[in-house]
Amino acid sequence: MSGKECWIENPGGTRRVFVTQELPGRLWYERLVAADCRVDMCLSTEPMTLEELLAMIGERCDGVIGQLTEPWGAAAFDALASAGGRAYSNYAVGYNNVDLAAATSRGIAVGNTPGVLTATTAQLAVALTFAAARRVVEAHDHLAAGRYRGWLPTLFLGELLWRKTVGVIGAGRIGAAYARMMVEGHKMDLLYFDPHGNEDLERYLADYGAFLERHGQRAVRCRRADSVDEVLREADVVSLHTVLSGETMHLIDARRLASMKPTAILINASRGPIVDEAALVAHCRAHPGFYAGLDVFEHEPELAPGLAELPNIVGVPHIGSATSWTREGMATLAASNVAACLQGWPVWGKDDVTPFLGSAPPQAAPSIVNAAELGLPMYDGPS
Ligand code: DGY
Repeated sequence: MSGKECWIENPGGTRRVFVTQELPGRLWYERLVAADCRVDMCLSTEPMTLEELLAMIGERCDGVIGQLTEPWGAAAFDALASAGGRAYSNYAVGYNNVDLAAATSRGIAVGNTPGVLTATTAQLAVALTFAAARRVVEAHDHLAAGRYRGWLPTLFLGELLWRKTVGVIGAGRIGAAYARMMVEGHKMDLLYFDPHGNEDLERYLADYGAFLERHGQRAVRCRRADSVDEVLREADVVSLHTVLSGETMHLIDARRLASMKPTAILINASRGPIVDEAALVAHCRAHPGFYAGLDVFEHEPELAPGLAELPNIVGVPHIGSATSWTREGMATLAASNVAACLQGWPVWGKDDVTPFLGSAPPQAAPSIVNAAELGLPMYDGPS
């Protein structure tokens, strides 16, 4: 083993798990130690290169907890398989950095961490929405620069998001949570696009509409659009919650930006390359009344030239899931994935992963994305 400075826990463990970056909390390594693992955790805050991953996997490595910033492709999985590895978990719900086919063909289970990021990430998308609508960052900068000379009727006029239309592209867990926050909190109508639809969300909002009517208020509307274009054309705010794939790369390009309302707000807390960032910069420059709120960037951590100078783009550095509860929960789920696979336990297969966050977790892997392809057994014990 060579390369980065590491923290080692349980050096006498019979299995070796490599954790590529420092993780928060304690429960995660207790899970690994309970599975008789030695834990080698890298302490560097720089993302690992492929060469560094290979060096750290070394001759003997049973499992890895890795990051969305790392290249988990054929070369990394070759090294892991040759070192005796059988399990990898991304410390993220998204896994576009992982070549799933490469892992599966080498018999390596791939885990992710859904179920603990939902409200946290949706709240950050809401925060960006209102930061953009109410020009919070511009106003803060004005104040901090000592330019505030007293209340004015025209100072930092923004957009009122009330009884308008919120658009959501991708109505999975996080997209649906964002939609509910915007509809319930601000009585917005929802127009969403998702190839699979979300009947639970539609039913929930129909019930919510009926509740509003019982209280003498106009019901909110919820409609599934036929296309992304329809959402972009009609909504006052559009939030992106789709996965990154060949199909969604640059889903939002210059043509689609031009189809949006001139005062619309675009939010992206999913993956940067879904938006053509150079096109967004050009669009925001040409349309000062159009705002964007970004948690993710096309070439993270680099920003497209000109982006940081634009007053109508509010950005934060990929912190959508950054609350202590969520990040500790993600660590616990990732460790539980690896520990369970190394002990030959089945796969949980249920949406609710909270039983894994307690002191008596189920004997199962919370979320293995290639479980079916690997023919892994499903859990049928007590919840
Ligand atoms: C994820 O989990 O995919 C997020 O982007 C990290 O917060």
